[in-house]
Order: sequence, then structure tokens, then C-alpha cells
Amino acid sequence: MNLDKLRQCVSKAGQSHVLQSWDELSEIQRSHLLEELKGLDCLQLNGFFRRAMDAFSASSTQEKVDARMEAVPQEVLGSVTRDQQHLQQWEAQGFNQIADGKVAVLLLAGGQGTRLGVSYPKGMYDVGLPSHKSLFQIQAERILKLQRLAKERHGKDCIIPWYIMTSGRTMESTRDFFQKYCYFGLEEQNIILFQQGMLPAMSFEGKILMEEKGKLSMAPDGNGGLYRALGTHGVLQDMEKRGIEYIHVYCVDNILVKVADPVFIGFCVNKEADCGAKVVEKMNPTEPVGVVCRVDGVYQVVEYSEITLATAQKRSTDGRLMYNAGNIANHFFTRRFLQQVVEVHEPQLQHHVAVKKIPYVDTQGLLIHPDKPNGIKMEKFVFDIFQFAKKFVVFEVLREEEFSPLKNADSQNGKDNPSTARYALMSLHHCWVLNAGGHFVDENGTHIPAIPLMKDAGDVPIQCEISPLVSYAGEGLETYVKNKEFHAPLTIDEDGIHQLVKNGL
Ligand code: UD1
Repeated sequence: MNLDKLRQCVSKAGQSHVLQSWDELSEIQRSHLLEELKGLDCLQLNGFFRRAMDAFSASSTQEKVDARMEAVPQEVLGSVTRDQQHLQQWEAQGFNQIADGKVAVLLLAGGQGTRLGVSYPKGMYDVGLPSHKSLFQIQAERILKLQRLAKERHGKDCIIPWYIMTSGRTMESTRDFFQKYCYFGLEEQNIILFQQGMLPAMSFEGKILMEEKGKLSMAPDGNGGLYRALGTHGVLQDMEKRGIEYIHVYCVDNILVKVADPVFIGFCVNKEADCGAKVVEKMNPTEPVGVVCRVDGVYQVVEYSEITLATAQKRSTDGRLMYNAGNIANHFFTRRFLQQVVEVHEPQLQHHVAVKKIPYVDTQGLLIHPDKPNGIKMEKFVFDIFQFAKKFVVFEVLREEEFSPLKNADSQNGKDNPSTARYALMSLHHCWVLNAGGHFVDENGTHIPAIPLMKDAGDVPIQCEISPLVSYAGEGLETYVKNKEFHAPLTIDEDGIHQLVKNGL
């Protein structure tokens, strides 16, 4: 498309201002701007804006959602604590599917890590474990270990392909990172990176905001941008070629994530579900997690910002929060269901509106940092497709085993930060050592209580880290720790135990 044609297009859509500084731009700036605009359908963008804003205005009376919400009914709910008698069977089912090469994992890694305050992809973050492994490495090693466990059970090699959704902001550095670390022992051809779309930030009047004179203010289109990206990049065809039937979709920031968890997969397969969500019991009414529930009889996640405190505080007769199915962004989908979503439902999904303070260049060419919200970003959410499922199930797991997200920098409010992530992983691994018959002792040789109470902010857990290559979920540790005493710090990896073993008991 040449410049004149482009001028006509943007002018028709009421967005002529994006080219107003054209004459002042360098050749490089011009070619970047042209590239950005060629990839954008301004009329379609205006349509997204109108629909998103209409829905946003309609939903701004919060009571409406609150009044229409219903908790998840018991019949769709499975639980690691209440269904213990079925866990082995579900796990065996999950391993069957993995061994048959029918399971893939899909990582949502297109976010910008704004709250964490890093300029690189969150998956590259090192939370300060003794091994200094990044989140990507931990996840890669869990995949490797599962492949090995499935082989031990079924005697055949299997592959769990790892699809990673990046964005314009994270693609290059993610690819470089995996290359640099030789794909963490996985095979390059089984790690498939693809890129989600980006959308410009808009003023409240529906005008595209400019980050620089020759640059639109672009942001990824939300983790629900997945469905469009699946279609654009032929990802489902690739899955079909590989024989994939079941997909575990998860977020990058949860250090405890059980990638391709055989129990969860087996549960969903046994229930013949096409869509499933893992949840933990919400800790308190103000915890910033979405809740899985029904609204007008349809399954969805209602984000913490969308309900009133009064509703969040409601309790059932057993004293638990009424809306307690906390979404930990771990989802199960069949490939067929995703196919249908991409082909039929994706265009119907509306963008959610995030009202933000967005720096922009004004008509005089000055960069303005607004002190109050001046525009919106538009995002789709990964769970927006629950409503289309024929059979939806929910699986409740334990927070201390499966959920510790990394959202904030250490200095912020003491929650969901690198320290809490590191502590959660080390506490869990401490438990695994205890369950396998090992003990920690202090400098006097006295047994340290099972899980020491952390009373003060400065308290730290026992330093204990077990490589995912040694144990995926606490299994197989007896040979390393049974009847042994350890001083912290203890690390166990494929080379063995890195700690003085004091004595046999
Ligand atoms: C998310 C869930 C929330 C849940 C919480 C648990 C969504 C929309 N919300 O909230 O219900 O309780 O996790 O931790 O899923 N991402 C992309 N592309 C984007 C934006 C985000 O791939 O355009 C990825 C991020 O890299 C991350 C994940 O999506 O892996 C979650 O994004 P984030 O913005 O951190 O979601 P939360 O608001 O924390």
C-alpha cells in the first residue's frame, strides 16, 4: 500500500493525525510507521473500540454482575483433597495420554511484566533460588521430567510439544534466551514460538495514541489474543499433524505450575470435558485473583476488579467464601474445542477495556505523561471462551503445591513477588523431603519442626531446592533422603545431593 492510499484509509477512519508529522520523520521512522499502519485495519479498530466501550459502559454498574453470579456447582468440581480415591486413576489416564503423544502445553508469555518492573520477558526472571534457574528453565525441566516419567511407565519415548505465545515486545528476547541456553535440554523443533497481535492504545474519544511522532502506542491484545494468533499462525494445524488432542494452557509467572499435570489432564479426559480450569481456594475476599463462576448460567471468570467488596465477602453456610474458586490461569482445552473457537467464536469475543495513564505525543509533538487516566488499552482474556464449552469442569488444587505467582517487584506490598515465589518453592520442596522420610536439623542437631512458622516479615524458610529433573511432584525422593538428616541449604539435582549428609538415622 502506498502513502496516498494509506492517507485515504486513515482519514476515512478519522485517524489522520497518525501521519501528521510525516514530513518531519527520518527515512527509518517513515518505514517503521508504514509497517505499523499496513498491519492495522483502522476501520476494524474503530469497531473494536466502539464495541468495547459500549460493553464497558454497560458493565460499569457493578451490582449487575454481582447479582447475576452463581458459584461453581459441585457436579463439575473435582478436588485433590476431596477426591483422593480417584487421583491415581486420573494420573494414570493423564500419563496414558502423554505417552501416546496426545498432550501439548501452551505458555502465555506475551505480557509486558509492567508490575514486576523488568524490560525483558518474565520467563527469563531469576527469583534467586540457589540454582538461579529462570522460570523458563524450571518449566522446561518439568516437561523433560514428565516425558521421562511417561517413558518409565509405558516404555516408549514421547514428546510434549511446548507452544509459547510471545508478543512483539517479547518475541526476540525469548527466542534468544532459549537459543542461548540450548533449549534447556529439550529439542528445538518441539518448542514452537508464535506471536500474538498488538493493538494501539486509544484516547477516550477513539483516537489512536502516538508514543512518538512516528510510532503508535502499541500493546499486546491480551492473553485472549491467543485465539486469533492460533488461527493466524496455523498452530492448530501443527498440533493436528503431531497428533495432539489435549492442551494445557498456563501463565508464565507461577513458579509452582505443574506443566502438563497428568492428574489434571486425566481428570478432564475422564470427565469428557472440552474445557477445564484449575483453581485454588481464594484466600481472602480482596485477594487479586479472578473467580471461576457462572454469570447468567454461563461459565466465566469474573476478575477481582469487577465485583463489589460485599459480594467478594459473601460466605456460604460452611464459612468458606461463596465465590472461592480462585483462577490460577491453568486451563485445559481439547484441540477440537480450540478449532471451533478459532473458526467460529473468536470474532465474537469482545475486548475488555483497561483504563490507563498512557504517555502520548500531543498535536504539537510534545511527549505528555498524564497524571490521570487518558485512554484505554483493549484486551481479550484467555478464559473468555469458557462460555462456549459443551462440558466445562473445574479442578481444585492446593495453593501451597501449585500457586505462587510472580507479579510485583520485591519492594511492593510484600505479595506475589520474587521472595514469596522463592519461599513457596523452597517450602514445598522442604515438605517433599519430609514426606520422603528426610529431616532437617539445626546447628545443634535438633530436628527442625516440619514447616517452621514464619512469624515476621524477615523470616525465611529452610533453603531447599530440588531440581525438576529429579522430581516432578515429590515422587522418587526416598533414595536421596530417606532416614537422612540435612543442614540447610540443601539442593538435589541430577548430580546428587549438594549438602553434607550428617548421619544415617
Ligand atoms: C491472570 C488471570 C486472573 C488470575 C491470575 C492468577 C487473565 C486475564 N487473568 O491475571 O484471572 O487470577 O492471572 O495469577 O488471565 N499475557 C499474554 N499476553 C497479553 C497479556 C498477558 O500472553 O497480552 C500473559 C502474561 O505473560 C501472563 C498471563 O498472560 O503469563 C497473565 O497475565 P497477567 O496480566 O499477569 O494477568 P493477571 O492480571 O495477573
